[in-house]
Amino acid sequence: MWSQYLRIRERNGVVAVFHELHPDPIYCSSEQWQCLVSEVTEGTQMLISDLKQHKLIVESLDDDRREFDRVASDLEYKLDQPTILYLMTAQGCNFGCGYCPVPETAKKHGASLLSVEDAIAGIELWQKHLKDVYDSNLQYFVIFYGGEPLLNKETIKASLACLKMKKEMGDLPPNINLMIATNGILADDETIVMCKEYDVMVAVGLDGPKSTNDALRVDSDGNGTFDRTVASIKRLVQNNIRTFVSTSITPFNIDQISEYSSFFSELGIEKFGFNFLKGRMLLRLVGADGVEDYYREASHGVIENARRQSRPGFEYQMEKKQVAFDRRDFYPVDCTCYGNQLVIQPDGQISNCPFYKSWLGHVRNMSDGFRIWNQPIVKEWRKRLPLYHSGEAKAVSGGGCAWSSIELKGDLLAIDDSSQIFSEEVLNELIWSRYDRLKTQAP
Ligand SMILES: C[S@@+](CC[C@H](N)C(=O)[O-])C[C@H]1O[C@@H](n2cnc3c(N)ncnc32)[C@H](O)[C@@H]1O
Repeated sequence: MWSQYLRIRERNGVVAVFHELHPDPIYCSSEQWQCLVSEVTEGTQMLISDLKQHKLIVESLDDDRREFDRVASDLEYKLDQPTILYLMTAQGCNFGCGYCPVPETAKKHGASLLSVEDAIAGIELWQKHLKDVYDSNLQYFVIFYGGEPLLNKETIKASLACLKMKKEMGDLPPNINLMIATNGILADDETIVMCKEYDVMVAVGLDGPKSTNDALRVDSDGNGTFDRTVASIKRLVQNNIRTFVSTSITPFNIDQISEYSSFFSELGIEKFGFNFLKGRMLLRLVGADGVEDYYREASHGVIENARRQSRPGFEYQMEKKQVAFDRRDFYPVDCTCYGNQLVIQPDGQISNCPFYKSWLGHVRNMSDGFRIWNQPIVKEWRKRLPLYHSGEAKAVSGGGCAWSSIELKGDLLAIDDSSQIFSEEVLNELIWSRYDRLKTQAP
């Protein structure tokens, strides 16, 4: 019998048949497919054997259930890995970007700085998490975040020294990557020395060429920031610091992003990643009626940029899904708030998301047994993961952003349309670009 997870796509006389839980398409002609569906003939025997191997033809629905359970258990394993420690060293920011909720949050909760003691307590709590579930095949990250993290260099430095010491003493594993996510303009000589000494990577926010960047990325006095940001990126690159760019897709650059790989490669950075806008700030910029168009246009732009780029994998959002698809390692983690990250907020409060204050307790008052993946909020947020809902692109979707769903729809379990639309478009792209590649390789 057919698996209930069998899905097809058809284009120009070719059918791609794939399993919704782990799409590894089998291609055949539309004619062959029609033959198979209407009656089994000699010529379709090979196709049938392929379909069985891919679990698209099953003995009974029990086979489907077993497959679902296997995929669900793989997913839970992935989500129970605290791959990221976010140290939010500053709540405030020296920028006032037109899409960023941080300045408002700082006004509401105060522009606190993370203390050295709270940062160290965060590292120690993370260390306990790793002791339980450390996997040497994975990469782990400590990310300094904000607000603007470089407003609090003292805590960054002390944290880096602590992490180094713990690594040297064998209390933390070697495969920990360090990163500062910054707007860049406070990256002075002292920062460069610090990045070199501790082997820290830097991700800088930049939304494209000057006029598009400066339309929304302004400092707290309202001045454009492009020139200062680019000068800083160039200095980091010249100093051999691994430098990345995070670029938000805004109404001002959405029609240009398909050219961004070529724009950013000229800056000498290692990679960049597109960022779909989230939450109420997106509503303010595009209005309720403009949200779906924004997601579609942004998805097309990201895909088109990947098609045009000369450096494969240079843009992170597409790379992530392409790699997962090619390695058959589905469910690329999208948002890491489903248990993959421990966030220490600037006031020392623990959260599962940097943008959402979940008030899980103060980092210095936590019991020994606290683990982020066991928190009720994390369990609740996991209910929104695509695996548990209908949707044909679930295997390449990481589930999107619960915080955005709360802000846009008032319901944390509501589908994040941005993630769903992007995943659907990307799945089609991955299926047909693989077909085109196979066709050109065929003798
Ligand atoms: C909050 S900032 C913190 C780091 C640093 N101050 C910076 O400017 O990059 C980190 C990233 O969040 C992005 N961001 C801000 N507001 C956002 C929103 N509403 N939706 C999605 N991303 C957003 C920014 O573009 C930036 O790349």
